[in-house]
Amino acid sequence: MELASATSADATWPSWVLVVAAVLVPGLLLAGPALRSRYPGAWWLLCGFPAVAFRVVQTWRPLMAGCGLAVSRRPALTVVSGLVGKGAPPPQPRVPRRGLIRPTSGGFVLLVRLLPGQVPEHLVKAAPAMAESWQVHAVRVTSWKPGVVRIVASAVDPLADPQVPKQRGPGHLLRVTVGALETGAAWVVDLRSVPHWLIVGATRSGKSTLINALVAGLAPQPVALVGIDCKGGMELSLYEPRLSALATNREQAVRLLTALVDLTLDRMSLCRAARVRNIWGLPDKERPVPVVVIVDEIAELFLVANRNEKDEAHAAGTALIRLAQLGAALGVFLVVAGQRVGSDLGPGVTALRAQLGGRVCHRVADPGTAEMALGDLNPDALKAAQAIAPEQAGTAVLASGDGWERARSHLITEADAEAVAAEYAHLTPVLSELHVEP
Ligand SMILES: Nc1ncnc2c1ncn2[C@@H]1O[C@H](COP(=O)(O)OP(=O)(O)OP(=O)(O)O)[C@@H](O)[C@H]1O
Ligand SMILES: [Mg+2]
Repeated sequence: MELASATSADATWPSWVLVVAAVLVPGLLLAGPALRSRYPGAWWLLCGFPAVAFRVVQTWRPLMAGCGLAVSRRPALTVVSGLVGKGAPPPQPRVPRRGLIRPTSGGFVLLVRLLPGQVPEHLVKAAPAMAESWQVHAVRVTSWKPGVVRIVASAVDPLADPQVPKQRGPGHLLRVTVGALETGAAWVVDLRSVPHWLIVGATRSGKSTLINALVAGLAPQPVALVGIDCKGGMELSLYEPRLSALATNREQAVRLLTALVDLTLDRMSLCRAARVRNIWGLPDKERPVPVVVIVDEIAELFLVANRNEKDEAHAAGTALIRLAQLGAALGVFLVVAGQRVGSDLGPGVTALRAQLGGRVCHRVADPGTAEMALGDLNPDALKAAQAIAPEQAGTAVLASGDGWERARSHLITEADAEAVAAEYAHLTPVLSELHVEP
C-alpha cells in the first residue's frame, strides 16, 4: 500500500518539476545577463564558480602533464606495481597536488604542493595555459611557503569596471587614492613612501587622467602644486588656480627648476640649522609646505633642435636630477609623465629614471619606453605592459623593486579636475621664490 502511494507520488513528481524547469530555464536564460550585471557577486558564486571549479578538476592532470609538470613515479615503485598487478595499466606520472578550490569575490584561489625538484617558477610559466584551459581572465602564481604555491584566478578583468570609491576630502597628507588595483584594493600613491614617479604611456593611454586623479586628491591638502608643461600649458593650465607656479615652455621650465633647486637648498640649510635630517623633523610651525612638481611630457624638455636648446635641456635635466636626489627629505616630490621616454632623449633621462622609484607604465607605442619604465625593476612586468589593449585606457602596470601589479586609474575628466582646482584655489600656497616671468 505504502509502495503504491510512493509510486503514484513519484509519477506526479516529474510533471511539476518539468513545469518549474520550463519556467525557470527560459527565465534564467532571458534574465541571466541582467542578473549577472546587477548581482555579479551572487551570479559568480551560484553559476560561474561551480562551472569553472568543475573545469579545474577536469583539466588539472592533463594540464600539468601538458605543461611538463608531471613527474614519473620512482622506478622501484614501478617495478613493484608491475609485479603485483600483472597486466595492470602502468602507474600514472605524479602531478603537483591541488588543494581545495575556494571562491573569491571575482575568481578563486587554491594552494598547490610542488613535487620534489619543482620550483614556483615552473608553475608561473604555466599560468597562461591555466587561464586558457579554465577560460578565466588571468591566473597569478605566487610562492606561499616553501614547497607550496598559491594560484589566484580572476574570472573577469577586475579592472574593466573598478569598484574602489574615489577619495573624498583631504585624507592623509601626500597620500591619494588614484584608482583600483587588480586585486580589488585601492591604488594609493603615497609620496611620503615613494617620493618620485615616472608615468609613461602612448598618446590617449591615460597619463593625464592619472595626473587628474592625483591633482584632485592633492588639491584639498596643504601642499603646493607646481606644473611644468612644455606643450604650451595645454595639459596643466587646467589646474592653474591651484598651482603655485606653472612653466609652459622650456625657457620658463629651466628658470622654475633652478628656483626649485634653490628652494630645496634653502630647506637643507633650515634642517641643518635645526639639526634634523628632513623637514618632517622640524616643528609643525616651522615646517615648509611640501611641493609636488608635475612635469607633463618630459620629451619636450629634452628634445633639442639647436645648440642653445641643448644647453637648456642639459640645465633642465641636471636640475631635475638634483631635485630628485635632494627633494624627498626636503619635501619636494616629482611626478614626471611622458609618451616616449627612451634613451635617445639623452643620458640625462636614464640618470633621472634611476631616481624615480615609482613607475607607472600605461599602454606604450614602443618597447623602448616600457623597457625604460619597467625593465630595470621587473622584466616580467614588461610583458604585462605590452599586453594592455588600446580600449583599456587608464590601465597600467605599476612596478617597484618588490614586484609589479596591474591597476586602473579613476576616470577623472578634465572638467572634474578643473572644478576641483577652482574649488581649492584658496588653498594655493604663495611661493614668491618660484615666480617665473612669462
Ligand atoms: N582610467 C580611465 N578609465 C576610463 N577611461 C579612461 C581612463 N583613463 C583615460 N581614459 C580615456 O582615455 C582618454 C585619453 O586619456 P588621457 O588624456 O589621460 O591620455 P594621455 O595619455 O594623457 O594622452 P596624451 O599623451 O595624448 O596627452 C580619456 O579622455 C578617457 O576617455
Ligand atoms: Mg595627456
